[in-house]
Amino acid sequence: MIGLILDELGFGFAGYFREIEIEIEIGDREITLSELRVTVPTIPPPMAVVSTSLSGATAVTGQLTQFSGLRKSFLKLDNSNHNSTQSLFQNVDSHLRLASSNKGCRGVVAMAGSGKFFVGGNWKCNGTKDSISKLVTELNSAALESDVDVVVAPPFVYIDQVKSSLSDRIEIAAQNCWVGKGGAFTGEISVEQIQDLGCKWVVLGHSERRHVIGEDDQFIGKKAAYALSQGVGVIACIGELLEEREAGKTFDVCFKQLKAYADAVSSWDNIVVAYEPVWAIGTGKVASPEQAQEVHLAVREWLSKNVSAEVSSKTRIIYGGSVNGGNCAELAKKEDIDGFLVGGASLKGPEFATIINSVTSKKVAA
Ligand code: PGA
Repeated sequence: MIGLILDELGFGFAGYFREIEIEIEIGDREITLSELRVTVPTIPPPMAVVSTSLSGATAVTGQLTQFSGLRKSFLKLDNSNHNSTQSLFQNVDSHLRLASSNKGCRGVVAMAGSGKFFVGGNWKCNGTKDSISKLVTELNSAALESDVDVVVAPPFVYIDQVKSSLSDRIEIAAQNCWVGKGGAFTGEISVEQIQDLGCKWVVLGHSERRHVIGEDDQFIGKKAAYALSQGVGVIACIGELLEEREAGKTFDVCFKQLKAYADAVSSWDNIVVAYEPVWAIGTGKVASPEQAQEVHLAVREWLSKNVSAEVSSKTRIIYGGSVNGGNCAELAKKEDIDGFLVGGASLKGPEFATIINSVTSKKVAA
């Protein structure tokens, strides 16, 4: 793996790259990148990285197409011989990575987005006063990487207990909220109330609310808009059912759900998108890193096309569905995976800490 930090090579990264040529020699291997054109959306991120994994070529001349701040894959591939002119990026699995300047990171951060890694623990309808007290004690004593936003979502009835005992290092989310201002809505909990208890976030559009309780896209969009209008951040879940994936409708479903949020909200500043394929939730059947990355990239591109390039870069797109201490590192390495929403494994303090700390696997040797 070779990581090139372009501004360390003297190109800086204050604006746009045009028509430059880079030659790299590694032992007797030589790589030339020519006509590199990089267009950075709106606000240039702090650092750009071209990272390549060599796959056997001894001399490769790269003809790079225009980037729009996101990766583009190259369609032609010529493997005929080592001296052929071919895209470096066809042959060596490469990406333009726009990295965040997360504090405490040494090396390169393999993140396409510019937002900070974000890990949420969704406790769902689990726990008792005693078990939650034990979980809070475990979380309070865990050593957590500093460059991660960490949030837990206890059941409503335990939010107060958690708020008064959990370290401030971890923020609190509600698992749901009412669609507007509180009042005569028996059994509902308003945004004002969760805020009163100290919640900074609310999880909305979770598949269990969509498919078990029957909330639809528009209702969820309205909830998101109201929560945001009151200053509460939204963890906006999307994701397809197994039959939708099998019918090839994954992107259609996710884009439709995203559109409902986009139609309702006026700002994406306080939204984290959680891609949670329904077939992976609570099933132990995690999406492969490639499956997750494919959808995350599509979501980022959808945001770029339908909202703005800036929102696409800044919005954290986190993955949820059977994430655990054993699979988080491989998932975290994918550049469009900006964190996780964790159910079952978030009920075990040490394992949740391992998932939070998987941010370290985003660091690629430069
Ligand atoms: P899981 O749940 O990690 O138990 O699959 C994830 C979620 O529902 O957010």
